[in-house]
Amino acid sequence: MQTYRIGVIGLGQRIAHVLAAMAEVGWNLDIAGHVDPAPVGAPILAAAGLAPGRAFETPAALLSAGPYDLVMIGSPNHLHFEHLNLALDAGWPVFAEKPIVRTQAESLAIAARLTAPNNPPLFIGLVMRSMPIVREVAARIDAGELGELVSIDATEHLPPEHGGYLARNWRRKQAWGGSYLLDKVCHDFDIFARLAGARPRKVASFGGRRIFTAERAETAPKTWDTGEAAYAFDPGWQGANDAFQSDMDVTDHQTALIEYENQVRLSFHANSHVSLPERRWYVAGTEGTLIADLVRNRLMVRRALTHAKPERIDYGERTADAHNGADQAMARDLQASLEHGVPFPVAPFDSLEAGLTVMAIDEAMQSGEMLDCRPMWARYDAVVKS
Ligand SMILES: NC(=O)c1ccc[n+]([C@@H]2O[C@H](COP(=O)([O-])OP(=O)(O)OC[C@H]3O[C@@H](n4cnc5c(N)ncnc54)[C@H](O)[C@@H]3O)[C@@H](O)[C@H]2O)c1
Repeated sequence: MQTYRIGVIGLGQRIAHVLAAMAEVGWNLDIAGHVDPAPVGAPILAAAGLAPGRAFETPAALLSAGPYDLVMIGSPNHLHFEHLNLALDAGWPVFAEKPIVRTQAESLAIAARLTAPNNPPLFIGLVMRSMPIVREVAARIDAGELGELVSIDATEHLPPEHGGYLARNWRRKQAWGGSYLLDKVCHDFDIFARLAGARPRKVASFGGRRIFTAERAETAPKTWDTGEAAYAFDPGWQGANDAFQSDMDVTDHQTALIEYENQVRLSFHANSHVSLPERRWYVAGTEGTLIADLVRNRLMVRRALTHAKPERIDYGERTADAHNGADQAMARDLQASLEHGVPFPVAPFDSLEAGLTVMAIDEAMQSGEMLDCRPMWARYDAVVKS
């Protein structure tokens, strides 16, 4: 079996988990080197029995010590653009974490670059695309089981410690993370467009910060009923001391309304501090309805005019990382793609469009006005189709 020589830029928690999942499903890994000023993912890698390889000072130094079978990028979002360009220049296959980049300008520049010939294969870690439940949802909709798609209601609600992590980690700053929705739910908006089979035409959004605020710093409870301190964890690279008194400038809850080009309509609700966590897609078609419960990894489907019980599929595989086996499924997809040329479930252009969608939602929230996405897609198409 082939041994993969890997170079890592940004050895954080995420890339360490992905590498551990790759090893778990049978990859032979030789992590030849990494670049990271303080690798947050080192303990995760060690627990998986993997060595991090040589520490390089810069991506250029790492890349000049190639060849690599795969260069993996897991740095904070504001560095993706720079790291992606360097890795693509080097010419070996690249796996980069989502969101592919952080701004509209970066999206257009990467789109232009990917449109040009002679780029190495690029895989973006929109890991939900590899989940069996998500594949089943897409397959059923494609097969017409719901009739024509009419409307979708979707949520992503995080438990308090996860929200506290977002409020203390680098994701709290737009300059590093982009936005709450860009970092957290570009996955979901990638899949919604895939299910709708169209791009968003109009978006509106309301959101803000009402949970992790300085005003609540004194009054908000900070201890669990078991006596453990809440929000007490290592916040990682550029972490803040206090979830309530940081320089956070992203939202901690947000809602959005989207109308797709083909008149599919969607409402979305995200909150980063709930006691009943949920990631749920309620998809209604002319002839049937489905609910995908991504937290419990369960699917429920029923045709419209039947008194029969709904069909229920329990995918099991619930894991503590809340990815429910998705990382392992993505590791298999990546291997199949590299070894046998099987198309990876998500293309880089899909990830650019998901990112642009979320950026449009954030722009609509900031302006307080409904945003017509057509000019944005026209700018994007002018680059991609030129
Ligand atoms: N696909 C998913 O489900 C998923 C889940 C979590 C995170 N992510 C993505 O993975 C990426 C990393 O997130 P994370 O949770 O691992 O964060 P993290 O904070 O655990 O890791 C980021 C790492 O980047 C390092 N870093 C900082 N500056 C650097 C530089 N100049 N060069 C190289 N490394 C540098 C940090 O020291 C840290 O080790 C983000 O883009 C995030 O959006 C994806």
